[in-house]
Amino acid sequence: MVKVITYGTFDLLHYGHIKLLERAKALGDHLIVGVTADDFDKKRGKINVQQTLMERIEAVRKTGLADEIIVEEYEGQKIDDIKHYGIDIFTVGSDWTGKFDYLNEYCKVIYLERTKGVSSSDIRTVRNELKIGLIGESVVVLSKFVSECAFVNGIKVAGICTRNKENLSGVLSALPLVTTDLTSLLSQVDAVYVVSHPSMHYEHVKQALEAGKHVLCESPITLNAAQCEELFALAQEKDCVLSEGIKTAYSTAYNRMILLAKGGKIGDIVSVDATCTSLRGIDYSDQAQLEQTWNSLSAWGPTALLPVFQLLGTDYKEKQIVSRVGNEQYRYDEFTKVTFLYPHAVASIKVGKGVKSEGELIISGTKGYIYVQAPWWKTDYFEIRFENPEDTKRYFYQLDGEGIRYEIVAFVKGVEQKRTIPSISLKVSLEISKIMDDYHGNKTVVNI
Ligand code: CTP
Repeated sequence: MVKVITYGTFDLLHYGHIKLLERAKALGDHLIVGVTADDFDKKRGKINVQQTLMERIEAVRKTGLADEIIVEEYEGQKIDDIKHYGIDIFTVGSDWTGKFDYLNEYCKVIYLERTKGVSSSDIRTVRNELKIGLIGESVVVLSKFVSECAFVNGIKVAGICTRNKENLSGVLSALPLVTTDLTSLLSQVDAVYVVSHPSMHYEHVKQALEAGKHVLCESPITLNAAQCEELFALAQEKDCVLSEGIKTAYSTAYNRMILLAKGGKIGDIVSVDATCTSLRGIDYSDQAQLEQTWNSLSAWGPTALLPVFQLLGTDYKEKQIVSRVGNEQYRYDEFTKVTFLYPHAVASIKVGKGVKSEGELIISGTKGYIYVQAPWWKTDYFEIRFENPEDTKRYFYQLDGEGIRYEIVAFVKGVEQKRTIPSISLKVSLEISKIMDDYHGNKTVVNI
């Protein structure tokens, strides 16, 4: 019996896949199809596969061409599989020509002509091309967002509404529409990415939702808790997605770390301590600069608050906000520390643009602790440590595009399925704006 094996993602199974499977089957008597697991796809850069592993397996099964289906989970697995299943022929499409020649040592390698004119990527792009408009002034954030969109199928940056044309020339040259009028941008797009100054978020998000556009808003969504609630209610009424942009929330390492902590790996969680700082000078005599600059709590607070609220919830008993305020009129804090008291735990965040510290995250538990080294908010690695250093467990997960890429993928998927993205719950979003509100309203704030 001649045994043949082939591998693929088989997302949105198409004619090209079926032709390949038919020819692979014809090469022998028994065909094994390896379907790639989501994590493995992510690792090799395929980030916006639309269907789940089970859906893709089911589609391959329904073709009736596979005698056996297996899951491909790790690099190097092909050699293991060939040995394990006693494979005679390994085959894939001609887009891989040469890439698997190293398998000749174990079996015969055959590259089959790829069917022209069809691919999962094309189908994904055509199915849901989302035209997104940008709102804001930040050169760094907008440039990154535009370049990360290029890695995601099904999204196209259609224009920008900005007051910062001069400094954004690099980003703008690639965009079909550049305007200072939000209404005209909204008429050209299906969704917007809001990264204007936080004090403008409420107006911008509201206008976009009222026009029936989906919104990805860089956190904090508002500086006022009631307004935040109002916007989420409006999104629901308009059947639009309103999503909070905190890139860390979309990174695999961060998510796995949260799951492990919640799963009891370090026992009961007793303390969460997160620090985020980036030292930036500010000229307090420059009014224009002050108007546009995000203060420390807006810039870093949402990220630092994320693990606190995701691990301990939002029902804390007490909190204290301590800030070093550099400019009172604009509520520009150079440094802020917020401490929380929960019934059985404590937490603290330290954020600063005028103070420097070690940007680490430590989650302390009754059995051990999780340590995420600086800069923890864009990490691909963390450790779970115990009393005995020999018991330390190390975890590594690929991170591309600092999480922004995954944030865009999640947003596109959320819009397609018309549902809020589960990475950040409504409770967490509302609590983040509540902290902003308390600081800006000077409630429970101690100045140092
Ligand atoms: N394949 C093919 N002809 C096509 C598309 C895919 O023969 N038009 C083959 C690939 O060469 C591979 C298998 O089908 O052997 C599974 O490919 P997969 O990567 O899942 O499909 P693509 O459509 O190429 O997916 P993507 O666009 O995401 O790369």
